Amino acid sequence: MKIREIHVHKFRNHAQTDAIFGERVNALLGQNGEGKTNLLEAISYLCLTKSFFGSTDGIVMQIGEERFEVSGELEGDTGIRYHVAVAYEHADNEKEFFINRTRVEKFSDVVGQFPVVVLSPESGAITTGGPADRRRFLDFVISQASKVYLEDLLEYRRVLRQRNKVLFDSKASRTDASDLLEPWNEELVDRGVRIVHRRNLFLEELQPMVAESYGSIAGRVENPMMRYESSVGSEELASEEAIRQAFLKELKRKAGEEKRFGITLVGPHRDELLLEINNLGVRSHASQGQHKTFLIALKVAEFLYLQSKRNERPILLLDDIFTELDEQRAEKLLVLTGSVGQSFITTTSGSVFPPDFNWASENKRFVVHGGTVEYEGARVLTH
Ligand SMILES: Nc1ncnc2c1ncn2[C@@H]1O[C@H](COP(=O)(O)OP(=O)(O)OP(=O)(O)O)[C@@H](O)[C@H]1O
Ligand SMILES: [Mg+2]
Repeated sequence: MKIREIHVHKFRNHAQTDAIFGERVNALLGQNGEGKTNLLEAISYLCLTKSFFGSTDGIVMQIGEERFEVSGELEGDTGIRYHVAVAYEHADNEKEFFINRTRVEKFSDVVGQFPVVVLSPESGAITTGGPADRRRFLDFVISQASKVYLEDLLEYRRVLRQRNKVLFDSKASRTDASDLLEPWNEELVDRGVRIVHRRNLFLEELQPMVAESYGSIAGRVENPMMRYESSVGSEELASEEAIRQAFLKELKRKAGEEKRFGITLVGPHRDELLLEINNLGVRSHASQGQHKTFLIALKVAEFLYLQSKRNERPILLLDDIFTELDEQRAEKLLVLTGSVGQSFITTTSGSVFPPDFNWASENKRFVVHGGTVEYEGARVLTH
């Protein structure tokens, strides 16, 4: 997948930004606070209907404005062109998404059609943060690979909110809510089982890719492992039936506790993805370098996974990450970037690119300044 051009209107500090991108590396250079990350966020809207940071539509709309629009021309790996547009009206708090000028009814139909892999300073939380950060990673990737998963996830969250409300209300009023909980339990378990099962399957597929790319970065023998640990208490995650039985049993066992806390304590929203290197927990034991290597290995694997599921090379968004990496890892990543598909790399310093980097027409360099984006021709970089 490639973005050929983009038009950003009243989005963050971009009043009107129009750019024609290169087919491979697109460097976005600029000082702090000029609008580099904002442009990546606009790309996220174009490809995924929303911000990868989880910012709301009202927040990303330019301050003082009433609507924003991001549109562009995308091209699939087979050469199919798409005109894509996303527009938000603040007055009715309505967001619309169009593909080839036809309005898309369900956003879940769009997510994954234009796959994206993001690596930003926030991504570090995947290995250093808490379980919620790792669940977010799982959901972000699998949602792009599977529309069914995303729909299960959205429905699960809705059911969870309702069920929590019943529990919360009954705690507050000190009444027994068992009858009221019953209808929600079924839906919670149905969707929850599918989510747990799918996440486990995903990790099994990802594991060899992570091991492979970890090895190629670390350059020595270390054994990175991922393990899914579900709150439903099932040892057997390969079978939906086994997960279902364990889920029901655990819900029963935790019923008293749930009443006491007024909150749902069992289900994929409480699960953990354990990351280990040589059988030691990454979060508790890994060195800084090992954290970074694991993260990049995960991102490379994510790329390969989405590519195989979607038959489409994802667009790579690298936000301000080269400053964090040592030379060796940065070089590996840059080589990789050149060999994948289209990428967008924000940085405050042009020196992350080697002096002999080929700024031919497929690799472009832009300067971002005060919400404007200007193409810097190849001539600028002939050192
Ligand atoms: N809704 C908005 N409307 C207008 N301006 C906004 C809005 N949201 C953020 N900004 C402005 O955008 C700027 C930040 O842009 P951005 O995060 O893209 O910077 P950056 O170039 O990535 O900088 P850094 O190198 O520090 O990461 C800030 O100056 C902020 O005031
Ligand atoms: Mg930034």
